[in-house]
Amino acid sequence: MASPALICDTQPWKDLKAHVEDIKKTHLRDLMNDSERCKSMMLEIDGLLLDYSRQCATQDTMEKLFRLAEAAHLKQKINSMYSGEHINSTENRSVLHVALRASRDKVICSDGKNVVPDVWKVLDRISEFSERVRSGSWVGVTGKALKDVIAVGIGGSFLGPLFVHTALQTDPEAIQCAKGRQLRFLANVDPIDVAKSITGLNPETTLAVVVSKTFTTAETMLNARTLREWISAALGPQAVAKHMVAVSTNLTLVEKFGIDPNNAFAFWDWVGGRYSVCSAVGVLPLSLQYGFPVVEKFLKGASSIDQNFHSAPFEKNIPVLLGLLSIWNVSFLGYPARAILPYSQALEKFAPHIQQVSMESNGKGISIDGVQLPYEAGEIDFGEPGTNGQHSFYQLIHQGRVIPCDFIGVVKSQQPVYLKGELVSNHDELMSNFFAQPDALAYGKTPEQLLNENVPQHLIPHKTFSGNRPSLSLLLPSLNAYNIGQLLAIYEHRIAVEGFIWGINSFDQWGVELGKSLASQVRKQLNASRTKGEPVEGFNFSTTTMLNKYLEAKSR
Ligand code: F6P
Repeated sequence: MASPALICDTQPWKDLKAHVEDIKKTHLRDLMNDSERCKSMMLEIDGLLLDYSRQCATQDTMEKLFRLAEAAHLKQKINSMYSGEHINSTENRSVLHVALRASRDKVICSDGKNVVPDVWKVLDRISEFSERVRSGSWVGVTGKALKDVIAVGIGGSFLGPLFVHTALQTDPEAIQCAKGRQLRFLANVDPIDVAKSITGLNPETTLAVVVSKTFTTAETMLNARTLREWISAALGPQAVAKHMVAVSTNLTLVEKFGIDPNNAFAFWDWVGGRYSVCSAVGVLPLSLQYGFPVVEKFLKGASSIDQNFHSAPFEKNIPVLLGLLSIWNVSFLGYPARAILPYSQALEKFAPHIQQVSMESNGKGISIDGVQLPYEAGEIDFGEPGTNGQHSFYQLIHQGRVIPCDFIGVVKSQQPVYLKGELVSNHDELMSNFFAQPDALAYGKTPEQLLNENVPQHLIPHKTFSGNRPSLSLLLPSLNAYNIGQLLAIYEHRIAVEGFIWGINSFDQWGVELGKSLASQVRKQLNASRTKGEPVEGFNFSTTTMLNKYLEAKSR
């Protein structure tokens, strides 16, 4: 595949650059009057409704974006991913998280080997193991059933499972399946997080799942040692065999740590950490909590989007459309941030998860071929559930900077609440905001409208809303395991699309290494100063002063 060196050198990129001027002459107020345009920007797939008519874009823009996708060889890149090519070239790896949710009969190969049977071997083991724990046939050393689980892991070994757990824990079907069990997470190395994770738990009835792709991550290994100590101190060192299991690609280190490899659940180097929620990383803790059948529905939801992404034409392909619109907003309209605004409290951990998937994947300044990018790649993601966010940062979104927004709504609440005599339920109230906000952003409010409302002259500038602020809306039929899987896969693939167009490697993360190695130097220094009284040296004036102050104050 002969790719142009950089996408910005292609004609479609130049055409889009020129097209910005046309779009600047339009206003969403007018674009929204064109019902043909709006109709063409709504798409219904597998129960999901996507409406991107409030993007600052016309049908012409979309055509131009599709041409950009062709110039970037998007279709071929998607196919390369699905066929197991080593598209993560800096780590020489396939990128096959789609295989984690493929049905048993699918053939997906990495290095000439169909990986789907291996995936199902682990899924079947998880199904069997989680059932044994949940039914009480696997018990702790004192013979008690293990009803609580602490999943220890950080980054991709934490954020995805936390998002899915948070979304499921208010779903009636999942609640029934949880049967009063608890799932907690321990991510931060901060001792406060350790304390929070074990407070109120009894080691006799607790199972710790250590989740780490590499089994070397400093925070996770320290937290795992702390939990091992917590269990051993209470129940004796032999308890580790019954109370600790692991998820990793590095089974040698799992064994070295003292966890029986028979109690380890593998995954593979073709699964990126932030794309690992559908591997044992998420499937094991979630199956222990909710049972494997619930988690299987989640995998099926993700798989339905995998199919849409792989085979649908671009104009009917949700991840492709969303990815192209992000490119349009970031690289052409100059809006580098994106707000993720689920109108569902159950999705409160969605934005934190997507932050990692997006910013660790696409926060790059170098092309996949090692060339400095002459344009900015990556998106700054943040978000909060509505309506909470409305009372926090929406002021800036309405009258300050332009931030394209993703509104995510759900038709049927997981927990409908009706007050006697109220016609509008809490959920309707929530959704009234979901429907109103995109129009408020698109239309704004003009000085003329304010004058007609007799607003005093001196307040008119303050109360004017310029409008023309882009958003898109995604309406899910409900929030169950299946839909949660769909949502996850939409964003995972959208982010891949952005990386494919920008021409970067979305699947490595060298940018996190420097901080890790500097922290290791500091750690060595702290040890040397404490144990041997060695002076702080080798750091700049600022860090030396801070470290001395820290050591001095701590020793008092
Ligand atoms: O923060 C960097 C990172 O490597 C992430 O990509 C990864 O998800 C996380 O650390 C945890 O890594 P591991 O699963 O190997 O402990």
